[in-house]
Amino acid sequence: MNNEQSPAPSATLSVGDDFGESLRDNMTLLGDMLGRTIADDLGEKFVERIEHIRADAKAARDAGEAGRKALARNLHDLSEDELLPVTRAFNQFLNLANIAEQHHRAHVRHVEDYRPGTQPYMDSLLSRILEKGIPAERILDTLSTMQVDLVLTAHPTEVVRRTLIKKYDMIDQCLGQLEACQEEPERRARLTERLEELIRQAWHTDEIRRERPTPVDEARGGFAVIENSLWRALPDFYRDLDRQLLTTIGERLPLTASPIRFASWMGGDRDGNPNVTAKVTHEVLRQGRLMAASLYMDDLRSLRSQLSMWKANADILAETGEVNEPYRAILDKLMVRMQATCEALSAELNGDAYVTREKLVLTRADLQEPLMRCHASLCECGMASIANGALLDTLRRVACFGMTLSRLDIRQDSERHTEVMAELVQTLWNEDYADWDEERRQEFLIRELGSRRPLIPRHWECSADTREVLDTFETIAHEPREALGSYVISMAGQPSDVLTVALLMKEAGGAYLPIAPLFETLADLDRSGKVVDRLLDIPAYRALIHGRQEVMIGYSDSAKDAGQLAAAWAQYRAQETLVSICNARNVHLTLFHGRGGTVGRGGGPVHAAILSQPPGSVNGSLRVTEQGEMIRFKFGQPEVAIRNMEIYAISVLEASLLPPPAPRPEWREEMDRLAEQAHRVYVHVVRETPGFVPYFRTVTPETALGQLPLGSRPARRQKQGGGVETLRAIPWIFAWTQTRLMLPAWLGSDAAFSERIETPEGLARLQEMMTQWPFFGTYLDLLEMLLSKADPSITADYEQHLLPDPELRLLGESLRERLAVLRGALLTITGQKTLLEHAPLIKQAIDVRNPYIDPLHRLQAELLQRQRVANGDIPVSLRRALMVTMAGIAAGLRNTG
Ligand code: PGA
Repeated sequence: MNNEQSPAPSATLSVGDDFGESLRDNMTLLGDMLGRTIADDLGEKFVERIEHIRADAKAARDAGEAGRKALARNLHDLSEDELLPVTRAFNQFLNLANIAEQHHRAHVRHVEDYRPGTQPYMDSLLSRILEKGIPAERILDTLSTMQVDLVLTAHPTEVVRRTLIKKYDMIDQCLGQLEACQEEPERRARLTERLEELIRQAWHTDEIRRERPTPVDEARGGFAVIENSLWRALPDFYRDLDRQLLTTIGERLPLTASPIRFASWMGGDRDGNPNVTAKVTHEVLRQGRLMAASLYMDDLRSLRSQLSMWKANADILAETGEVNEPYRAILDKLMVRMQATCEALSAELNGDAYVTREKLVLTRADLQEPLMRCHASLCECGMASIANGALLDTLRRVACFGMTLSRLDIRQDSERHTEVMAELVQTLWNEDYADWDEERRQEFLIRELGSRRPLIPRHWECSADTREVLDTFETIAHEPREALGSYVISMAGQPSDVLTVALLMKEAGGAYLPIAPLFETLADLDRSGKVVDRLLDIPAYRALIHGRQEVMIGYSDSAKDAGQLAAAWAQYRAQETLVSICNARNVHLTLFHGRGGTVGRGGGPVHAAILSQPPGSVNGSLRVTEQGEMIRFKFGQPEVAIRNMEIYAISVLEASLLPPPAPRPEWREEMDRLAEQAHRVYVHVVRETPGFVPYFRTVTPETALGQLPLGSRPARRQKQGGGVETLRAIPWIFAWTQTRLMLPAWLGSDAAFSERIETPEGLARLQEMMTQWPFFGTYLDLLEMLLSKADPSITADYEQHLLPDPELRLLGESLRERLAVLRGALLTITGQKTLLEHAPLIKQAIDVRNPYIDPLHRLQAELLQRQRVANGDIPVSLRRALMVTMAGIAAGLRNTG
């Protein structure tokens, strides 16, 4: 390995000329550095080879057949030894392209893609609300009481290793510093050297994890995002918000308000993940507290050095006596307690004993109270600007992160709870709970909820699975409520699913934790209103919830179950019903949106997504998942995180005070028709076409994906069989993304739309809905974004490599034909000549990456073929190359699945 910088001009990886200027400059800079790095490692000839492949891939896009042949020849000629480094080179370039793009987006504050002129900004929203005659107090009140929970989850979609993420963050910082010192040649030279060093570090680091992370590793990853980015970003976000509020309304946000908060599933989500145990949950909660305490320790140290003032009010002096530096005296005491808290938590995590006489800082109030008194005193003594400096920043952190950093949600599959009940009923009464109908189950659960005597025998010798569920309830019973978020029940479908959890919670003792049933199949979404209606009728249940109900909507599983269009409409209708049921009973409803990063999993720009929900559904509160790679993209760097928090705050404020219009009856009828037809086609293709599952299994890298050690959770739900049904939504979508058919996100809508646009009235209706109904307009925007990433010629290439069976080839052809029909229909509805005419940045981002992604697709198809021919027995380097192709394609599309 040669670490010397070689000036070889040929050793570059070109970017192409079709990109925005500063972005292109950064991409060129990083590409050049990567080129030199690879040249030093593997020789100039090798870089030239890569450059040829890239040029051929570009020609294949521009010039068609001849280029395609040249590319295929070039790739075919690669020796076995070259395959891994070639895939690595393309993968690394794509990751560097992502860094440059992300950097550019942060700079221009376009962290999400909207139509030109529609980027959401807080100042213009505040003016718009005031212009509508909504009084300033109402705005402030809504913002102060608003609760937007961003729930960071460990969904296995982050392909990039944590060690590389750190290097990428440093590369991003270097780019920023380079831009800031245009006129300082020495500094620039130093930074350029550092940048090159980082790129060399990344090149010489394995990009694929060798082992799966444990749930505790995953939680550490989540905490690292808070420590490295959100901790810094949050006070700045509130500073910006306060400035805007002071100019428009004349007041800042109250000190204890925290409209944006963070929750987490990392170490709490045990649905289908046997690695998340009660012990893990306990440990992760301690880790979060320890990190919070040590971060506050740094804050307190810095406050101590700054708050040297001597004037204080009577309240402070009553505590400190007449001392020279009363604030320092208060902070000294607090620091001793915080230090003891850190030590106590470390000891607990290490299993050591720890005794202290100090009162530990355990709750948000423990920390908030003395700091608020300091704040009040400084203000009273004429030092408001000092109070509203670093001290206010810490207070903002306390309000948001508390003493736990985030609130941990618990999630478990409804079936696991039912199994506990079944075992219990069997043990106690020798009856079969599975045979009881819903009514009998409810009757029993309600009776037990109201009973004073415990139901579960004290030393019950139950199965290991049941013990694990009970231990989890034990664990949460002992945690203070501010450490926890909600108890989410996946695959919830009946009131008894919720009552069971309420009963198990009661049995374990401790305060009630909000229970959020997660409705995630078409049938369950359609039934969700009835379920909640029934629950709210039960006095014992009503007594528990204190007027608040949370319901989670599952986007990806419902789309996997019913197709995206039918699922989207079912989600919309379910929310409408839930809103009206809860309003009628005076219960505050919080909807929790289980969205992933990709369109197929409910992803998309936040402002558009929130403003397209039914009116009344975002009523000052909202929870939403942020998953996998999206956590890095949206919150990994402070500047981007600030903007994303702002977008959430804007969207929820706007949807609460200026709700979107309700759909007209004829739009609803239209949606019913479209959804019904799309659903029919989806079900026919996915469930009733005999070749479909073999096609999926053969053409996509679904089985190879299972070997990518992305997360601690297995790719399939346990216990059931091995069909597509048991495959989780993430690998299902990931697999279709890799072959660029993107099928789950559109299948069925081809038939629904193409039929409607055949008549002028049908087309006019769809166009009217597109322009006047945010729900439908956003749906089409997302579909367009998705179709622009789909590429049937790449899919065809996989089919050629991997499908010997002519019948399956015909099926593939028919699917690609459907995609072409949909593309045509969408262009007709939107009145465009090409997709993304209105979104040049996304289009350019895709175009510039294609010459790097295309070779990865072709190599992946070839490697899959070799793996199958060899019955899985291929050399380790080829297996790694296959994994790198998957990671590279995901990076290139900026989405895993
Ligand atoms: P789940 O999530 O499999 O954890 O329910 C699916 C997704 O986020 O796509």
